[in-house]
Amino acid sequence: MQSFDHRKYRPFEPVSIPDRTWPEQTITSAPIWASVDLRDGNQALVEPMTVEQKKEFFKLLVDVGFKEIEVGFPAASQLDFDFVRWLIEENQVPDDVYIQVLTQARPELIARTYESLKGAKKAVVHVYNSTSKTQREQVFRLDKDGIKAIAVNGAKCVMEHAHQHPETEWVFQYSPESFTGTETDFAVEVCDAVIDVWQPSPEKKCIINLPATVEVTTPNRFADQIEYFCRNVKRRDSIIVSLHTHNDRGCGVAAAELGLMAGADRIEGTLLGNGERTGNMDVVTMAMNMYSQGVDPKLALGDMDRIVSVVQSCTQLPVHPRHPYAGELVFTAFSGSHQDAIKKCLANQTDDKPWDVAYLPIDPRDVGRSYQEVIRVNSQSGKGGMAYALEQEYGLALPRWLQVEFSPIVQKFAEEDGGVVEAAEMKELFEKSFMTASFPYRLGKYELSKADRDSVTAELIGTDGPVKVTGTGNGALSAFSAALGEQFGIRVDIVQYQEHALTVGSDAQAIAYVQANIDGQRFNGVAIDSDIVSASIQAVLATVNQCLASK
Ligand code: KIV
Ligand code: ZN
Repeated sequence: MQSFDHRKYRPFEPVSIPDRTWPEQTITSAPIWASVDLRDGNQALVEPMTVEQKKEFFKLLVDVGFKEIEVGFPAASQLDFDFVRWLIEENQVPDDVYIQVLTQARPELIARTYESLKGAKKAVVHVYNSTSKTQREQVFRLDKDGIKAIAVNGAKCVMEHAHQHPETEWVFQYSPESFTGTETDFAVEVCDAVIDVWQPSPEKKCIINLPATVEVTTPNRFADQIEYFCRNVKRRDSIIVSLHTHNDRGCGVAAAELGLMAGADRIEGTLLGNGERTGNMDVVTMAMNMYSQGVDPKLALGDMDRIVSVVQSCTQLPVHPRHPYAGELVFTAFSGSHQDAIKKCLANQTDDKPWDVAYLPIDPRDVGRSYQEVIRVNSQSGKGGMAYALEQEYGLALPRWLQVEFSPIVQKFAEEDGGVVEAAEMKELFEKSFMTASFPYRLGKYELSKADRDSVTAELIGTDGPVKVTGTGNGALSAFSAALGEQFGIRVDIVQYQEHALTVGSDAQAIAYVQANIDGQRFNGVAIDSDIVSASIQAVLATVNQCLASK
């Protein structure tokens, strides 16, 4: 047998629920969110967070709006224990926030867990044991009753300790760990036994958290498990069904979304998806998915740069540039056709209309990003992107014919440079290519007069001193072109002309764009001046300068 052999694996055995209803559901409101960044996320780090990092991360989670935050595994880690004590003793937990702690269903660990929580105002005690067939048979070597007994005894112990501390508002949470690898009817049986101990009511609910400890199947099959569980578990009105998905198959978010449609109420996850192995389900992505559908996710994710920065510095893990909603490149278009479509849609988009922009599922400004970073130019980009950047940054509204001329110049630069061409670099290239109105000649004084034809007399200042030129034509440009033609023995025909006022970075300046055919060759000239006629004739001079320089 070769080593890469799919026959080594077995397909997942789905639960049978032919009358499933979840496929017809839509997510229309936010779930109860619970962050597990400081516990599951922290457990998965090469270097677990320091107390200082945990403090910073906790503050971020509170600011983002989590009301349930799993802050550690205090019976397993002294650092976690100390952190929980600090939160309580230093009064760091807002009144409306529950701190949550994890413990295995073992009496000595539960006792230590409660020790860490002394004096807490509100706390979720999260107790778990593993229920899957693999764990039962190979790790614990216990039958189903033995596994159920661990859960029941853990639940009793949790309740007894809570009764000794009535000053705290307790919520109990149970997880049948490795739920996805557990026969779903057995998971229901174990959870029912725990519920029998806790006797929750609609007024005082407990949380039953169903973890995809390892993601083993497609999200639709996971949703079937959740719908089956919700239909069959006892006292459904007295429990909060919570999901805790991991991302082994890359579908952690999708599984949580379908699980929510299948009846869950609460979602555990981490900001940007850090967690064991391939991570926990990413709360940012799931919440932003809701947001992009017009559903209020009830989390404040508007300062994405802060989220990325705190997560990166506390976890020491980079955030991928293409991470949904948060990556550095996720709102950036390099391809010319995408840039063109975005540019047109953005021009139509107004604040009173629903967001409708090609290639951008949300408005980047909503997460603190700017339009500047939306369109970036590299060797794959077309004229749209560079035109957009020059207009946004410098107010240069290049006419289409000049975009056509400038685009290959930018593309060549990008190919040689090998990366992104910044707006400032493009502006420099643009000036170098078209605004050579001062070499070999620059415009000195000039005079225009109008009789039956326009005539111009101008001084051109070259390296050998001033030269006087005169010419007539139908308009100032044609007269000046005739004067230049006469002086240099060339034929200058203006084929394109455009001008506009400059609004960015200048007071009452105008820019003129000219394309001239000079002795059968095309030259483009651009000039800026406070006077539009001066700008125009300097643009003509720029075309002639280029022609002379090329000879
Ligand atoms: O993934 C998991 O099963 C867990 C449990 C402890 C909830 O993290
Ligand atoms: Zn987990």
